[in-house]
Amino acid sequence: MKRDAFLLPRGIYLDGNSLGPLCYGAQAAIERRLKGWQHLAVSAWEEWFGLAERLSPALAKLVGARPDEVIATGSITSNLHALLATFYRPEGARRNLLATALDFPSDLYALAAWAERGGGELKLVPSRDGHTLHEEDLLAALTPDVAVAVLPTVLYRSGQLLDVAALTRAAHEAGVLIGWDAAHSIGAVPHDFHDDGVDFAVWCSYKYLNAGPGAPGGLFVHERHFERAPGLPGWWGSDKAVQFEMAPTFRKARGAGAFQMGTPSILALAGLEGALGVFEEVTIADVRQRSLALTDYLIALADTHLPECSVKTPRDPRARGAHVALEHPEAHLLSLALRARHIIPDYRAPNLLRLAPVALYNTEAELEQTVAALQELLRSGAHRAFRAAGGVT
Ligand SMILES: Cc1ncc(COP(=O)(O)O)c(C=O)c1O
Repeated sequence: MKRDAFLLPRGIYLDGNSLGPLCYGAQAAIERRLKGWQHLAVSAWEEWFGLAERLSPALAKLVGARPDEVIATGSITSNLHALLATFYRPEGARRNLLATALDFPSDLYALAAWAERGGGELKLVPSRDGHTLHEEDLLAALTPDVAVAVLPTVLYRSGQLLDVAALTRAAHEAGVLIGWDAAHSIGAVPHDFHDDGVDFAVWCSYKYLNAGPGAPGGLFVHERHFERAPGLPGWWGSDKAVQFEMAPTFRKARGAGAFQMGTPSILALAGLEGALGVFEEVTIADVRQRSLALTDYLIALADTHLPECSVKTPRDPRARGAHVALEHPEAHLLSLALRARHIIPDYRAPNLLRLAPVALYNTEAELEQTVAALQELLRSGAHRAFRAAGGVT
């Protein structure tokens, strides 16, 4: 769709669900902000101030929000802490937090710490097969002891996509506030966070948004919560009109901007500024359509040519994110052997290969070549040499 917008590394890049590649827009924006620093130094703050807020309209389109409901800031983990500090108000018997056994560990660490502080427990919805979640198990866990649930939009290992609208509705019917970790869906799967009534959400921008390693993440807070005081306030969350009055008491911005804390990294924000330009030229609906066509094709290729691998990603497109997880006992060795052939997959211990055919830059031909390479490795056993060579890290 936009392959020419990227400076792709040599070979076939299928790891955009971990780190999106550099695009020309991000490169140019970072260079421009660097020049501002060089030539203007502190005076460049005249232009840099409010940069995150200026990115909100583009970000809002990707998650189905109003511009003042989103802000580029922090990391998933720091934003989750900031929002739990705001939304988790244990009261009476409603003291527990809810997540799932398949969540990214950092979310669980943050949630466990807050549950402990609030005198509650972190409850985890179990997985029946170790890869996916059953909606009925999630619904059954929305009990009267739960104050806040935090769920992944797309599971980071299997790529299962949860039904954000249905689960948000169910949480609210059960009196539970709900937040979403959209790390593996932003930039790949459309969302309607405002209309779905999501309470809050967090995401990163170094995966499908291609903003660069460690680029600022983002957060969403529904406008009905704008009156809430940020639990971890900082001066960057001030009403921009009064921030430099340096008042001793915090006057927060109206909207998601209030949840910023300290001075953002302008160079890192510039990566996002430039990378969002790519999404101004496509619609997220088109991205999703192309992404599903690619993951459909990859699953079909795996079914036909890789009987030794088991597809752990849901086949139903309504339950599938943007990557495909293949299970094989030698997944690690296969991933090392592919890398040696300049095909970059992603590996998750103990036995998953994650392949992300990204709508913006990957092609069907690349998927055919990747599957052919895997087929050849499995036939020849050449990947086993990597163990002997000490390549397992
Ligand atoms: C689903 C998910 N949640 C949370 C994180 C942690 O993100 P961060 O390092 O930006 O806090 C990641 C990182 O890859 C992730 O994939």
